[in-house]
Amino acid sequence: MEKKRVLITTLGCKVNQYESAVLAGLFKKRGYQVVESGNIADVYIINTCTVTHLSDRKSRQLIRRAVTANREAFIAVTGCYAQVAPDKVLEIPGVDLIVGTKDRYKLVDLVERAIKGRGQVNAVRNYKVDEEFEEDSTLPLQERTRAFLKIQDGCNNFCTYCIIPFTRGPRRSRQPLKVIENAHMLVAAGFKEIVLTGIHIGAYGNDLAGDVTLAGLFSQLAAIPGLLRLRLGSIEPNDITPELVNTLSSSPIFCRHLHVPLQSGDDQVLQRMGRQYTTSEYNRLINVLRQNIPGLGLSTDIMVGFPGETSEQFDNTCRFIKRIAFSRLHVFKYSPRQGTPAANFLNQVEPPVKEERSHELIKMGHQLASKFATSFIGQDLEVLVERLLEGRGNNYEGFTGNYVRSVFPGDEGLCGKIVVFRAEKVRGATLEGKVTGLRY
Ligand code: 5AD
Ligand code: SF4
Repeated sequence: MEKKRVLITTLGCKVNQYESAVLAGLFKKRGYQVVESGNIADVYIINTCTVTHLSDRKSRQLIRRAVTANREAFIAVTGCYAQVAPDKVLEIPGVDLIVGTKDRYKLVDLVERAIKGRGQVNAVRNYKVDEEFEEDSTLPLQERTRAFLKIQDGCNNFCTYCIIPFTRGPRRSRQPLKVIENAHMLVAAGFKEIVLTGIHIGAYGNDLAGDVTLAGLFSQLAAIPGLLRLRLGSIEPNDITPELVNTLSSSPIFCRHLHVPLQSGDDQVLQRMGRQYTTSEYNRLINVLRQNIPGLGLSTDIMVGFPGETSEQFDNTCRFIKRIAFSRLHVFKYSPRQGTPAANFLNQVEPPVKEERSHELIKMGHQLASKFATSFIGQDLEVLVERLLEGRGNNYEGFTGNYVRSVFPGDEGLCGKIVVFRAEKVRGATLEGKVTGLRY
């Protein structure tokens, strides 16, 4: 019998992408053929996101697209949008099964059972207060040389704009032994770089017995033979402890880049967002980081058009961004999420104003990224070579430790190696140059 084909489509954050990669691994283990987008499949899985209303819309679009791609196919929807808006998903004609963010890794069984049964299945379940981390022991199907490793799920922060605590439940950490076991598996599979991901990785260990911290976990992982690079995903400013700064600054394999969400550069807005820091505290933290970690790349999330954001408050944000001189900005337009406090705040900002502010910051982000890359011209940098660029001759791309994209002529043998790259010029925010040596 021919293998059943499964196509997984993913929206949203790195954690969602990681979970889709695990799902792909699970389907493969069960004898399915995992096919890429653009192919026809027998089973479609849509892993949705709901962080803004645009994510909702895209999630619905992708579900409809799967339904029309093959009317005979089985359609399963999972992820954050399915968790918080099951009714909206079930309304879409052709959806056979929905599973939220819980029991995601039971999807293969649920799909097979639902195919045998009849009618639509709603398997979305609510979270308990003392939820445990949902383990997986499968090698996630990830391409390239960089692997994501999920160490944590959920969030208890409840920023006033954010739906995530409702979609992913309370914070919970993966057992350190399991993380380490998984990291060994990834290194044995040939990955050279691991990125620690989660919804709130700075809270790692808080819910576990004993003195478990992110810094401690990092040190244990950094000792794994064969692991050349270790990177941290997004981390909240308040979770960057002196212990963590020490651990990172003294580790030879730490990739010198951090993503520290700021959201706004105005203290009143930060307070209404329920963020637990002021701009001066944020500024002080960045100074400490830069003193201890030379060459640090620093990126951030900024939200524009939060309810009540005046043009003066937006100007404060612009000024603060320039003062910090981030290496990259991720700009979000505030989107009211049902069930969150800010959705009911007065003085919601008009869409054209959000559009204008977002446009301005995106432009500023490009300038800052280009300036950061330019500061490395003439230097020799270590780059992990990832892949050949399509349609660009023999040009390959890779990233420096501090996350500057680098492009250079090369050959297939370089993929997965760390090379010495001489940065010669900048195009956009990408460094161009040549390989002058091999490091590992
Ligand atoms: N509207 C717009 N952006 C949001 N984010 C989170 N919630 C919202 C919302 N309601 C952004 C934040 C966060 C990033 C992952 O998504 O900037 O850091
Ligand atoms: Fe989207 Fe947030 Fe869920 Fe990630 S956690 S998929 S960003 S809603």
